[in-house]
Amino acid sequence: MSDKSILARKSFYFKEEDDLSLRPKSLDEYIGQKSLKQNLKIYINAAKERQEVLDHILFFGPPGIGKTTLAYIVANEMGVNIRTISGPSLERSGDLIACLTSIEAGDIVFIDEIHRIPKTVEEVLYSAMEDYRIALLIGREQGGKVVDFLLPPFTLIGATTKPSLLSAPLRNRFGINAKLASYSTKEIMELILRSARVFKHPITHEAAFELAKKSRNNPRLANRYYKRVRDFATFYNEQIIQIERVKIMLSSLDVDEAGLVEYERHYLTILKERFNGGPVGIETLSALLDEEKENVEEIYESYLLQIGFIERTKRGRTITKKGLNHLNGLKN
Ligand code: ADE
Repeated sequence: MSDKSILARKSFYFKEEDDLSLRPKSLDEYIGQKSLKQNLKIYINAAKERQEVLDHILFFGPPGIGKTTLAYIVANEMGVNIRTISGPSLERSGDLIACLTSIEAGDIVFIDEIHRIPKTVEEVLYSAMEDYRIALLIGREQGGKVVDFLLPPFTLIGATTKPSLLSAPLRNRFGINAKLASYSTKEIMELILRSARVFKHPITHEAAFELAKKSRNNPRLANRYYKRVRDFATFYNEQIIQIERVKIMLSSLDVDEAGLVEYERHYLTILKERFNGGPVGIETLSALLDEEKENVEEIYESYLLQIGFIERTKRGRTITKKGLNHLNGLKN
């Protein structure tokens, strides 16, 4: 498997530069997450009323579910600047210190994929989060001395797909811990209708519903599919996007009735035909697919597991009746 194709697969579902113009700016515009939005409104209003900084917030949930969007909304509603850093890009503590020493009082520092920061960087966060202090080393190793540096009060927003990988000391420093709930098909449809209004290229309710059903309850995917079908509609000079166009676009991307794409069907077919439905070990599957084990778990299996097409057992992966029915249905 070439690097290029694995990247293409990753970007299908994982991070890709989101379209900023589609991002809602306020909690009222943000679709779904009703109780979280209500709570955030209270915390934001209370902090503003007391003229204090907002407590540190940890958002967690699967990729593409709106964690970054929410962080930007919080900054907007608080009327403060937001600085974004991606966890894996923080290689040394100096990278984080450079950011923390250049913020203004009240600002938000947003660390995406916070579970991927190195331990040394994490340790800087402890005192920074707890009492807005960091230990700075001034001068070279021998002659240098450590000084206590006071930071302006700030809010850290962390986002993670894997909260269990956060150490307890880090997790405990977030005053607000919020798991983003999954979206209903109706909410995803609403989101598509909203994107259509933002882009001023309308879509019928029926077409939006069809698109929503194939979007795996995932806002990022729904927006991506909406943008693709809008390309088709523009190309064919259609003012209003109809369900037929949605179906044509989805089939051109090889998205099937269950919202699965080609490589997921390939995985299911291997399980069914080469291993009689399993169980088969992850190592064997990884070798056959020519992928790293982590990639198989994250990219191939996560949605199949979520919709109950496969199961992870002690003896390996098995295809479920539901998964088999899906594959068999495709043949007819
Ligand atoms: N973009 C990403 N998540 C969203 C949401 N929940 N509502 C509106 N736009 C979004």
